[in-house]
Amino acid sequence: MACILQGAYVSSHRQFNDKDGSTPRPCSSVVVRAVMTNLETMKTTLCVPPPRPLKQRTELMSEGNFGRFGGKFVPETLVTCLSQLEAEFKKALHHEVFQEELATALREFVGRETPLYNAQRLSEYYKSKNNGEGPEIYLKREDLNHCGSHKMNNALAQAMIAKRIGKRGVITATGAGQHGLATSAACAKLDLECTVFMSAKDMDRQYSNVKFIKLLGAQVEAVNGSFKDAASDAFRCWVENLENKYFLTGSAVGPHPIPTMVREFQSVIGKETKKQALKKWGGKPDVLIACVGTGSNALGLFHEFIKHEDVRLIGVEAAGLGLKSGKHSSTLTNGEVGVYHGAMSYLLQDEYGQIIQPHSIAAG
Ligand SMILES: Cc1ncc(COP(=O)(O)O)c(C=O)c1O
Repeated sequence: MACILQGAYVSSHRQFNDKDGSTPRPCSSVVVRAVMTNLETMKTTLCVPPPRPLKQRTELMSEGNFGRFGGKFVPETLVTCLSQLEAEFKKALHHEVFQEELATALREFVGRETPLYNAQRLSEYYKSKNNGEGPEIYLKREDLNHCGSHKMNNALAQAMIAKRIGKRGVITATGAGQHGLATSAACAKLDLECTVFMSAKDMDRQYSNVKFIKLLGAQVEAVNGSFKDAASDAFRCWVENLENKYFLTGSAVGPHPIPTMVREFQSVIGKETKKQALKKWGGKPDVLIACVGTGSNALGLFHEFIKHEDVRLIGVEAAGLGLKSGKHSSTLTNGEVGVYHGAMSYLLQDEYGQIIQPHSIAAG
């Protein structure tokens, strides 16, 4: 199982070099039907934590706070804007017309629902290594969405909200380019201006995404540094244009209501998975596995199952050259609590609370 996570899954996403013009189409979510027989191996190889008790899993203290995490750590200037967003998000959740329009767009523009694909040969491969025993592995094919990733589920829904609150355009930041691509497509559909901030290095590494973003009519702003710096510049640009522009994040990070909103719009992944599992084998999956970058696909897959104690939820972070090497991007496994970009979270930071650059051989 460790090989599945690292070889077919996390690394394949992380190692795409996209200069040849082929857009990466990684698959972010794995659903395992049968109980895995070698969880012990997984624990040691991947530092998989033990299952969390139900009480902890469902502990949401108040809106926007998840235990001690989340919240809204922002200057006064942003409070009105975030409150307006929160009100609009809540309205949209129960607004029949919005929900109807979103459902239609997800079906006809994004191409949902995505298949829950039985990866037969992969399952057989692992069984053949373990006396015929092993998990049935299914892949939730979010890569088949329009523009090639789960990012579209959230980008489209948020762009619809931006339109509803009368914004003229959208500002965003992207690392690997998938979120930038999804956002530019959503903006093209809804006739919104779109500015995508991206580090110059990532632009080079994800050249084909940049090309498509521009073809879709968006403006790309090159930033020195990494995704973190691109996100900061995007934020700065938004703060200067609060009246007309909407900050559309693809990450489940940032001040309330952003993480809740991203989770909500990505939860379509888990809802479909639950329905499809019931239809395919008449039950629930035993284990759900998702890569964790900023957490959006993982939350989208897990949220529907969070109250089901019999379903194990496993998020996989990139361990890079090893957790002890200092060259990794495992913020949850190795980070410390701090406030960054408006919310409390686990961060890779130095003794002075300065953010440490995560190590990644891939874009973002
Ligand atoms: C295809 C794909 N999967 C996963 C991720 C990781 O992000 P998240 O954890 O928000 O799903 C990214 C980030 O860009 C992505 O492009």
